[in-house]
Amino acid sequence: MLVIVKDNYNELSKEAALIVADRLRRKPNLVLGLATGSTPLGLYKELIRMHNQDGLDFSKVTTFNLDEYVGLPPTHDQSYNYFMWKNLFDHLNIPEHSIHIPDGMANDIDGFCEWYEEEMKKVGGIDLQILGIGANGHIAFNEPGSSLGSRTRVKTLTEKTRKDNARMFKDLPEVPKYALTMGVGTIMDARELLLVANGAGKADAIKAAVEGPLTSQCPASVVQLHRVTFVIVDTEAASKLSGLYPGSWKSSFMLER
Ligand code: PGA
Repeated sequence: MLVIVKDNYNELSKEAALIVADRLRRKPNLVLGLATGSTPLGLYKELIRMHNQDGLDFSKVTTFNLDEYVGLPPTHDQSYNYFMWKNLFDHLNIPEHSIHIPDGMANDIDGFCEWYEEEMKKVGGIDLQILGIGANGHIAFNEPGSSLGSRTRVKTLTEKTRKDNARMFKDLPEVPKYALTMGVGTIMDARELLLVANGAGKADAIKAAVEGPLTSQCPASVVQLHRVTFVIVDTEAASKLSGLYPGSWKSSFMLER
């Protein structure tokens, strides 16, 4: 695991974007796993800037999103489908048929989950998976207690997550109770993980994920088992870590910037 501590959110977002861009330049048909939430927004803005100003080409990219609320149609402004189009897909040149987002309106949810996993396999698996982390240590909607071998399925959201996300909805009762989510095992199958977190509210979760015991009580701690994980955090999210971590990324995995 490579933990990189940046001074602020802007720097964190740029560092994460450099890794994505590097992987994309090396493999134009990159299979990219994508996350929603406020944390990756800066990374997405930077990718859009690189696309517009540096000609970073996404035309051969395939994407898979981590999760979606059950019961929200893509037109709902709090659906993750809506979020992704507004904040990323509308601004890049990824062909629509290469974009995969869990369907929260699927009639046959189990069938949909199986299909989603199959689609990932068909394209050779996810190369790079972008991840946020919940204040309770969740990754995607794999809440504490999730099986570490789980696959794409329905999960019940915890009250903590519903309260955390209520700021985006009219009120708490409006927040869906269920979500479709890639499992922890699905996420672990990605060749590389890129976890981003900022702010003091994430400090406990980052401490538990990076330096705590491996436990389903902090699903993000599973990244300790992954062969190639980048954890990029700002100084506030890193404030409870006791290890010494670098401030920039230099590794044999990277081509010249
Ligand atoms: P956030 O969500 O980026 O909005 O903090 C992260 C998550 O819950 O995974």
